[in-house]
Order: sequence, then structure tokens, then C-alpha cells
Amino acid sequence: MTDTVFILNGPNLNLLGTREPEIYGSDTLADIEARCADRAAELGLAIDFRQSNHEGVLVDWLHEAHAMGAVAVIVNPAAYTHTSIALLDAAKAIDPPVIEVHLSDPESREAFRHESFIGMAAMRTIKGHGAQGYLMALDAVTQINR
Ligand code: DQA
Repeated sequence: MTDTVFILNGPNLNLLGTREPEIYGSDTLADIEARCADRAAELGLAIDFRQSNHEGVLVDWLHEAHAMGAVAVIVNPAAYTHTSIALLDAAKAIDPPVIEVHLSDPESREAFRHESFIGMAAMRTIKGHGAQGYLMALDAVTQINR
């Protein structure tokens, strides 16, 4: 069976394309999903790509990734990065390694974006590379010993 990577996206990322394009670029989330699907196919991986504006739904999906035996979770928790101990605890509670991705570099922005809770449990954080960061995260999955 093909190894599956969950790719989870947090609040407001459904608005990519029109949301502050000077910060987040002009790709829509559907564009990013299509690029991820292409790269995953090249790497022999399957993806399950999702977005929610709700913290608890993202927690449930981290649990689901574990239950389904996903090989890794790539997550852009968006604003929940900087607020959510629940996402940190979920990332710590599951077996699949978590790779944190941000389109922008939050550490070069407002002070309230400098802390990442989920980052404390992530095996890797990729930030500031725009949509390309998602592809870099998929490449990183192939380096995981599995
Ligand atoms: C983001 C950075 C976060 O600070 C912000 O709240 C987002 C997007 C990024 O991808 O750059 O919504 O995660």
C-alpha cells in the first residue's frame, strides 16, 4: 500500500490567493494541493490534503493520521501555531513525525508570531519559502527512516 502523508492546513489558509498576497503569495490552497499531489506522485507517496478553520478539527485530524498509520504529517497550523497547546499535545501524542510549514517566516514578523508551540514537537520546521516549503516538506518525508 502507498505510504500516506497527511497535509493539514489551519485557519484562513482557505483564503490563500487573495489573502495578503504580498506576504503569502498568489497561489491558492488548491494550487498548493495540486503541486503537492504532483511531487508526492514523483516520490511514490499518497497525500491526504485538508484545511480547517477549527482547532479541534485539526486535533482530530492529527489523531486520525496516527490511527490511519500515516507516515508523516505536514502541518501549517497558521495562527494556531502561536496559541495552541492542544495542537502541541496532539503532535506529541501521535507516532507519525510532524513537519511544520509556514509560507512566511513568522520569526521575522510581529513578536506575537515568534513562538511556535507545535514547533516544540516538530521534527523539522520549514518557513519563509512560500508554497515551495510544502514540497520541501514532502522531500523531507523521504528522509525519514520508516
Ligand atoms: C502562517 C504564519 C502565521 O503566523 C499566520 O497566522 C498564518 C500563516 C504562514 O504560513 O506563514 O495564518 O502560518
